[in-house]
Amino acid sequence: MMPQITTDIACAVARLRAGELLGLPTETVYGLAADARNPAAVAQVFALKGRPASNPLIVHVTGREQVDDWAASVPEAAEKLIAAFWPGPLTLVLPAKDSVSPVITAGQASVALRAPAHPSAQAVLAAFAGALVAPSANRYMSISPTCAAHVAQQFADADLLIVDGGACQVGLESTIVSLLDDTPRLLRSGTLDPAAIEHVLGQPLARGAAGSVRVPGQHVKHYAPNTPAFSVANVPVAAQADPRCGWLLLRPRDDIAGTVHALGNEPIAYARGLYAALYALDNAGLERIYIELPPRSEAWTAVHDRLSRASQSA
Ligand code: TXA
Ligand code: MG
Repeated sequence: MMPQITTDIACAVARLRAGELLGLPTETVYGLAADARNPAAVAQVFALKGRPASNPLIVHVTGREQVDDWAASVPEAAEKLIAAFWPGPLTLVLPAKDSVSPVITAGQASVALRAPAHPSAQAVLAAFAGALVAPSANRYMSISPTCAAHVAQQFADADLLIVDGGACQVGLESTIVSLLDDTPRLLRSGTLDPAAIEHVLGQPLARGAAGSVRVPGQHVKHYAPNTPAFSVANVPVAAQADPRCGWLLLRPRDDIAGTVHALGNEPIAYARGLYAALYALDNAGLERIYIELPPRSEAWTAVHDRLSRASQSA
């Protein structure tokens, strides 16, 4: 058995209706999608990823019109953020209806919802006419995929259909905001500017989980290549001449012997290329990977978050 890549939306939807999983492109990363109302299909997502049952899934919807099927209440703050940022890379955590499967929510009283902007995701959601759970389409703790071939690599021995939607435009997982109490909280950084979210809310965002708000599954070791990866403030001189070292740099350099990927010093473009560069370096048979740390400014927060999970500091 091996994965199959397609652009046939009708075929993809038929798989979902049959309770099977689907590799689904979104603008952030590819998802491993299943019918959110089919408990056996949802269970399969956990099984194929090797994901612990304690890590809840995001429910992907067509838009505001499906939110009341999942959320017990929709606060004014949610209405504002939905109007401003959906469809797009923003996930909202809201109080869950009793009818939402505890397998999706990992037994929490909340549910995470997102309306993706990718045209293939929208075509599948519209034709399916239901909601889809979709965690990133990688095995537990490995790198999120940003193209169909990465998904196929992750699940090389599975009979999985993958919709080819090209390379993801955003490249990092969605920003997650919890609206469970009066203080909106940023649970996961993404490429949306927190200041833009605060502007729409008319209120500051608290950072990180606190009180009854939990964000399970944000493991320190996550998104990691198999090759040992080290983040460095400066390029270590001794390794520059070693062809068995791979490099993820900001600017290209011609004084380095090993494989170099340069992602530039602009955070949005860097984010778009990050996971593909990590896949390429991880697949290159190298002994170690060095990652040059970007500047410590707010615009790089989501990139720093992912790099800290992908590497150890040297
Ligand atoms: O961009 C994305 O969000 C991608 C694409 C496929 O949509 N999906 C994604 O899913 O990144 P996943 O499963 O890799 O990450 C989902 C995160 C997890 O860290 C989980 O803990 C959090 O969302 N989450 C889900 N439901 C939650 C809830 N009720 N409360 C707090 N966090 C929740
Ligand atoms: Mg993930």
